[in-house]
Amino acid sequence: MRPLAPSAARALAAVVGPEHLLTDPAVTAGHAVDWTGRFRGATPAVVRPGSIGEVAAIVAVAREEGLALVPQGGNTGLVGGSVPLAGEVVVSTARLAGVTAVDPDAGLLTAGAGTTIAAVHAAARAAGWAYGVDWAARDSATVGGSIATNGGGLHVVRHGPTRAQVLGVQAVWGSGAPLDDLGRLEKDATGYDLSGLLCGSEGTLGLVTAARLRLVPHLPERALAALAFASMADAVVAVGALRRGLPGLEAAEAYRAAEADLVAGHLGVAPALAPPPPVTVLVEAAGHDDPVDELAAAVAGLDGVVDAVVATDGPRRAALWRHRESLTEAIATLGPHHKLDVSLPAPALAAFAEEVPARVAEVAPAARTWLFGHLGDGNLHVNVSGVDPDDHAVDDAVLALVLDRGGSISAEHGVGTAKRAWLARQRGSDAVAAMAAVKAALDPDGVMNPHVLL
Ligand code: FAD
Ligand code: MLT
Ligand code: ZN
Repeated sequence: MRPLAPSAARALAAVVGPEHLLTDPAVTAGHAVDWTGRFRGATPAVVRPGSIGEVAAIVAVAREEGLALVPQGGNTGLVGGSVPLAGEVVVSTARLAGVTAVDPDAGLLTAGAGTTIAAVHAAARAAGWAYGVDWAARDSATVGGSIATNGGGLHVVRHGPTRAQVLGVQAVWGSGAPLDDLGRLEKDATGYDLSGLLCGSEGTLGLVTAARLRLVPHLPERALAALAFASMADAVVAVGALRRGLPGLEAAEAYRAAEADLVAGHLGVAPALAPPPPVTVLVEAAGHDDPVDELAAAVAGLDGVVDAVVATDGPRRAALWRHRESLTEAIATLGPHHKLDVSLPAPALAAFAEEVPARVAEVAPAARTWLFGHLGDGNLHVNVSGVDPDDHAVDDAVLALVLDRGGSISAEHGVGTAKRAWLARQRGSDAVAAMAAVKAALDPDGVMNPHVLL
């Protein structure tokens, strides 16, 4: 890795102040490795702008000095997109944090890019609303990162992914030009959706500095059931029936017996259903009125449920959710691992889940496959432990199977560096060429995350 040229260091320090240009390797090292530990790089500097003007000035310095930039929010991304793998300068959004406005009548909230998802939830609640996107990394993952990855999470089945929550974005393109869509209204048919373009852009087009987000009604009453199924096929059919017949459906999350045992061991508690069935599905319903009867009636009408527990009070619901939300952490205790976040058409999902461990074993006999995910969205997380971080054979085997079954190689984590080689096979060369043309127009010198996505 090349150190910063003195002229670049002087220019960046002049923009943000010397205290926000971090060059001490002991400090920058934490910004150069991803959450899984699979992707490790190095950076000559981490720069922390405090305003959109400073971001624009950093982009100008980068263009002038020939630097590449990696935007970084909470660094919880799971596809290696947030770390400087080729010596890029990291632009941290830590100082662009804070909820700046809440419109309780319109149900809209404006927040800086570095605001955590948990802080958005808290501000929404204080205004009598809720935010529709949530996942276990809520205390670290940021508004900017969630937009850049089009993050999904636990409630997509009800509210859609991050893209569906974004009304407008404020950003600086790689060209240095600003985008200010924060004042856009719900109904607005004036041309291209430039804010939407940043959803799923993974830091390759520009740096999001703030966003105006839609809120959803706060539903105070909740009930959660852990349902046991003999097979993934039975679980898929049941979740389809719940999506049709349970209006309050808020989440439908699945994991198998192996993951149930792993997470219970990690937490030092008994599994949610003991002994763990082949497949556990957590089903949450929410409403203004207690949804427990509605949930019980819907579950009673399902085929294939072999056991069930229901939690209505907060502590028991939280205890059940811990099993699902701690899976990522439990798998991480096994060491650096490969994470393959994929989605499948509903008719292909169960067969894929049955087949994928065998496909992994063919190319990596010593590896272990862990499977869980957002069953309501057809989204499975295939995690593989016991393989070298740089060994791509497992990724290739899993992603080839996904494409063969009509699925998507990335459901919610993005493409990053991990799946870059697969983008054209998924989207086709015409679509990738169109993406490259958009990138060339908005980031003409290729300063924004040049080793990610395209
Ligand atoms: P980072 O990791 O910092 O960056 C992610 C990408 O966004 C990078 O390409 C980066 O360059 C870019 N980026 C960051 N900030 C900006 C910005 N301001 N402007 C432009 N580009 C930017 N994801 C899900 O979708 N669903 C889940 O259920 C889920 N659960 C998780 C659970 C755990 C325990 C963990 C560790 C992660 C989980 N994730 C999940 C993944 C992760 O939290 C999301 O991808 C999240 O959106 C990343 O946000 P971040 O702020 O950490 O972004
Ligand atoms: C989840 O659903 O828990 C996340 O997407 C994280 C993961 O895949 O490990
Ligand atoms: Zn997920």
